[in-house]
Amino acid sequence: MYACVCITDATLRDRLATLCADQQHIRDAAEFFVVCLDVHRLRRLIEYRGLEWGMRERIALLYGATDATMVAQNMVVAAESLGYGACYIGAVQNNVDVIAQELSLPPGVLPIYGLCIGVIDPAHYPPLKPRIPRDLCFFENSYPADFPAQALEAAYAAMRVKRDWLDSIGVYFATDGTMEHREPIMARAWRQQELDPRPVE
Ligand SMILES: Cc1cc2nc3c(=O)[nH]c(=O)nc-3n(C[C@H](O)[C@H](O)[C@H](O)COP(=O)(O)O)c2cc1C
Repeated sequence: MYACVCITDATLRDRLATLCADQQHIRDAAEFFVVCLDVHRLRRLIEYRGLEWGMRERIALLYGATDATMVAQNMVVAAESLGYGACYIGAVQNNVDVIAQELSLPPGVLPIYGLCIGVIDPAHYPPLKPRIPRDLCFFENSYPADFPAQALEAAYAAMRVKRDWLDSIGVYFATDGTMEHREPIMARAWRQQELDPRPVE
């Protein structure tokens, strides 16, 4: 349940870069893809052979986003294994409704990630990013009732690169952050692409 649109048109690439927080690496990368969830194609296949479409929005969003994620990550792994660099562009969600229109995406198709793939500038070879300590991610038999302050401090300590990690995650996930601003845009896009979950009994 995925579709991948390779952006080869320079004018379109420039426009998408502008819509994705004006990120120059979208213009500069050798390749730029928009990886989408796609239940349109499946619906066409089902209806083409005479069955009635029965999948609803929650499954479409969950499974479609999962499939798009697996495709994108496998593209990243393949590119990196060949020595290329890759950069996810989550900022497609900043204008996901407009981007869906720019790419003529039909109902049932929704951009999930942008993906830059290209040759790494040796002068700016990216350092490996730290990872959240495993004991905050992998659990045995049940989820912990709470995270002790010591474990939370350890996560901040592990994730600190040049500045406090809160400076990085706060702008995304705290009040008035990027994610809060994306919410109404995504709601609009989900409605526009006919993926907004309808109530079920
Ligand atoms: C879902 C997702 C969205 C991202 N969006 C952007 C983005 O819009 N612009 C950007 O420069 N990097 C973006 N990144 C890349 C991160 O900033 C970071 O460079 C990358 O995750 C580091 O690679 P690593 O996780 O392999 O260490 C994104 C990464 C992920 C996983």
